[in-house]
Amino acid sequence: MKIAILGAMREEITPFLKKFPHYTQEEVGGNTFYKIPYNGNELILAYSKIGKVHSALSASTMILKFNCEKLIFSGVAGGLNPKLKVGDLIIASKLCQYDVDITAFGHPLGFIPQSSVYIDSDHSLNQIAKEVAQQKGIDLMEGVIASGDSFIASSEKKKWLIENFQADAVEMEGASVANVCHLLKIPFCILRSISDSADGGADISFDEFLEHSAQVSADFVEAMLAKI
Ligand code: ADE
Repeated sequence: MKIAILGAMREEITPFLKKFPHYTQEEVGGNTFYKIPYNGNELILAYSKIGKVHSALSASTMILKFNCEKLIFSGVAGGLNPKLKVGDLIIASKLCQYDVDITAFGHPLGFIPQSSVYIDSDHSLNQIAKEVAQQKGIDLMEGVIASGDSFIASSEKKKWLIENFQADAVEMEGASVANVCHLLKIPFCILRSISDSADGGADISFDEFLEHSAQVSADFVEAMLAKI
């Protein structure tokens, strides 16, 4: 089986390249895809670059060109739920694009005709994540992840995301990856470790904790892979 592991930033996939140093690589659409033999399976690893467009392209490439049958996103996010602290982990139960707005036509915020506000992630992959969390004694949150093409660094915007989408964490790629996987019928799981609290200090916190939180997420995904 071919399993896609996708991050957005180089820092989010560097821990995997260190864990799995024997790979071949192929360039497609401005990204490098690393092919890693893994227990009779193959991992296809890449970072997309930041944002919904880049991550949608990478997820599509992994599925349509490299024939990946499952996808796990590993990376960092801003915490919206006060229970989430730096280094904590969240899996998305469902994801939404908070920056979609055609309310002028009477649609709910985040809604696109012939689609839906929220896309559900895969129950079986999330179940594997919960098993790993239990074994490692990790308090894994399952919640709503909101995605959009902005880095959120203000308490007002944070409040707006919670009020309008009941979001627990915010990032810039999960919902686009979710859309691609949903439409192409590929089971997916979006895992994020918290790097900041999406408030006034988010930029400083992000810079300080990106590497650490990316490592936390990658270590968790490695444990998940052993169960797939
Ligand atoms: N990824 C990590 N922190 C984030 C934030 N505050 N906003 C958007 N994406 C993020």
